[in-house]
Amino acid sequence: MGTLDGKVALITGAAGGIGRAMALRFATEGAGVVLVDLDEAGASAVAAEVTALGARALPVRADLTRNAEIRSMADQAVAHFGRIDVLLNNAGVIRVERLLDVTEEHWDFIFSVNTRAVFFVLQAVARQMLDQEPGADGRRGRIINTASIAGRPGGRPLFAPYAASKAAVISITHSAAVALAPSVTVNAICPGAVETPMWEQIDAEWGELEGRQKGEVWRERIAPIPLGRPQRAEDVAGVAAFLAGPDGGYMTGQAVTVDGGLVMS
Ligand SMILES: NC(=O)c1ccc[n+]([C@@H]2O[C@H](COP(=O)([O-])OP(=O)(O)OC[C@H]3O[C@@H](n4cnc5c(N)ncnc54)[C@H](O)[C@@H]3O)[C@@H](O)[C@H]2O)c1
Repeated sequence: MGTLDGKVALITGAAGGIGRAMALRFATEGAGVVLVDLDEAGASAVAAEVTALGARALPVRADLTRNAEIRSMADQAVAHFGRIDVLLNNAGVIRVERLLDVTEEHWDFIFSVNTRAVFFVLQAVARQMLDQEPGADGRRGRIINTASIAGRPGGRPLFAPYAASKAAVISITHSAAVALAPSVTVNAICPGAVETPMWEQIDAEWGELEGRQKGEVWRERIAPIPLGRPQRAEDVAGVAAFLAGPDGGYMTGQAVTVDGGLVMS
């Protein structure tokens, strides 16, 4: 028996990285998963992995910067599974650029996915959750937004729009936690430096800006992690499973840092 037996989780950005790890962990815990991504082939490949674990999966292709596609995604999930118990609001994008070189297009791209889409996905799924009968825990749903340690105070001169977008995710988490209480819990996870395709991109773009070798920026970033190894997507997925599971039911409005101790507060 898993801790999420019979639950249905909708995961955005599920084609790879942290979203894929969440899908596999939630499937192992007994949940059915809706795998939403721009990358249709990637979402289908993860669906095949989930099915091989004996769990139910529905891959859905959606560009979450378009509200019509957000509504369609939620409708498809409910048509297939009947309800959505957990939202893992996880899709995100980054670009590395010096502050003085950031363009309006760069700013709008980052905010369209990391903040606008996160808000309207949360809104669409929350409407569905509030319409559902409560589960055994008395709640109608759990929402977990993926923010970042970049959204914490500190200053990120090479990805200022990204950092601002993630601070906004923490703020949305707080507002939604109050607005949706007591029916739905809303929390955020702030990962550190996770070994995923996103960090390969950061390493490449940062390296190009500063004339560094491939892998150099990544090695520099992970060297001070107190827990002594790079963060894995599974480290984030485990905390998401806790927040969605029986022991996470009395937490709401929290931004939980999971970063091996890089940032302490
Ligand atoms: N990797 C890290 O070190 C790290 C650290 C902190 C926070 N995060 C956050 O974790 C989340 C997942 O990151 P990751 O490292 O797995 O990244 P990733 O690039 O591996 O995966 C992101 C996924 O989001 C999807 N996506 C992007 N735009 C989309 C859109 N408009 N509609 C639908 N899907 C879209 C992509 O296709 C991709 O599959 C992001 O929100 C990211 O900001 C990552």
